[in-house]
Amino acid sequence: MAKALPQFTCTACGATHRKWSGRCDACGAWNTIIEEAPLSSGPGTRVTKGRSIALSTLADAEAPPPRSGSGLAELDRVLGGGLVAASAILVGGDPGIGKSTLLLQATASFARKGLKCLYISGEEAAAQVRLRAARLGLSDAPVQLGAETNLRDILSTLDTERPDLVVIDSIQTMWLDTIDSAPGSVSQVRASAHELVSFAKKRGVSVIIVGHVTKEGQIAGPRVVEHMVDTVLYFEGERGHQFRILRAVKNRFGPADEIGVFEMTGAGLAEVANPSALFLSERGTPAPGSVVFAGIEGTRPMLTEIQALVAPSPLGTPRRTVVGLDSARLSTILAVLEARCGIPFAGMDVFLNVAGGMRVHEPAADLAIACALLSAREDVALPPETVVFGEISLSGALRAVSQTENRLKEAQKLGFCAALAPCLVKPAAIAGIELKEMPDLAQVVGQVFGAG
Ligand code: TYD
Ligand code: MG
Repeated sequence: MAKALPQFTCTACGATHRKWSGRCDACGAWNTIIEEAPLSSGPGTRVTKGRSIALSTLADAEAPPPRSGSGLAELDRVLGGGLVAASAILVGGDPGIGKSTLLLQATASFARKGLKCLYISGEEAAAQVRLRAARLGLSDAPVQLGAETNLRDILSTLDTERPDLVVIDSIQTMWLDTIDSAPGSVSQVRASAHELVSFAKKRGVSVIIVGHVTKEGQIAGPRVVEHMVDTVLYFEGERGHQFRILRAVKNRFGPADEIGVFEMTGAGLAEVANPSALFLSERGTPAPGSVVFAGIEGTRPMLTEIQALVAPSPLGTPRRTVVGLDSARLSTILAVLEARCGIPFAGMDVFLNVAGGMRVHEPAADLAIACALLSAREDVALPPETVVFGEISLSGALRAVSQTENRLKEAQKLGFCAALAPCLVKPAAIAGIELKEMPDLAQVVGQVFGAG
């Protein structure tokens, strides 16, 4: 038999390569490729005939999966309406963002609702977890606690205990004795996750797996196991801000892109039921450079404040600093403003920020970004109590976006009285909101800022 060639794997995305290189072609990360022992080609090559499997039709009646609510409304919504039995869920996030806190609170809530819950910590000693539980006021919740990293022992325990839910914190600390590499390596993480997911399916136990997002290439990140699980949630937030967003990026049992908003307090994570009000709470009087964007996050409308600052630059290459938005988006909008509206930003530093540590991914934020930039550059505040949304195409035209009515309703609920938006295909009228429809960016520049 030919000798298996060495294999190189990216620790960030799990892509395999034939040879080492400094940058992974699949995900673009630097210094994340490591050499791994080749996978064994398995025992003997004698071909045996398989048995035929039972097939069914698509029309077979199927009841919706039973779900258990945790009582934490933000978490239940992100899960698609509660925890589905026998599902595998991955919760990824930067170290220290609050994953252990969130999951301890979630486990306690599920346990109080009558589910048999196990919390296995591979990172902290049982005493540490107990201390945290005491601080969060969860000591009385009927959660069974274990501190272990040997997955074989954990699986045997699960087999005898048969819980409804088990939390594994974190997958990077788990190891299987059958794999000959260190915990946290791609092969350990992948094999451990595989064991846990197949256990979940076979025994009807829901498994929540915690995975740290890693910047350096020593430890495999959660992307390595994304494809194995039913649901992938990312817990994100900016350091220094108290807001945390739980975002569903994949969900076999519910809508993806749904978010839950939490606030990190001295006593753990508190749910934020009305995020728009919270994100706008620190907004003062209308100031140049500040624009309220009426966005949609998952199934919910959400208002956020986009702030821009434009100042003459002392540098040859002016600074472009973006927080909470995609920097490629900023470059595109600056180019459209320059080419289609004749407003140059050369020689100026541009800073763009979403208030409150929120991250905005929607293309509908384009017009709000452009308005914030224009408002900062011209030193003119937008008319008060105005929300903005719309996508900008490279020609400078404004494109209609989805769910206009929901955006306007949310704005009206929070006391706004005007909206700047693209021309609508389907008229939407909300009492109390004056809708200013704009065909292109040049019109916005002329009519709202009187420039161009
Ligand atoms: P943790 O859940 O340990 O993060 P992770 O598991 O993602 O690594 O959270 C750690 C941070 O949360 C820590 O910096 C302190 C903060 N924190 C609070 O602010 N309040 C609290 O009640 C708790 C438990 C943690
Ligand atoms: Mg932790």
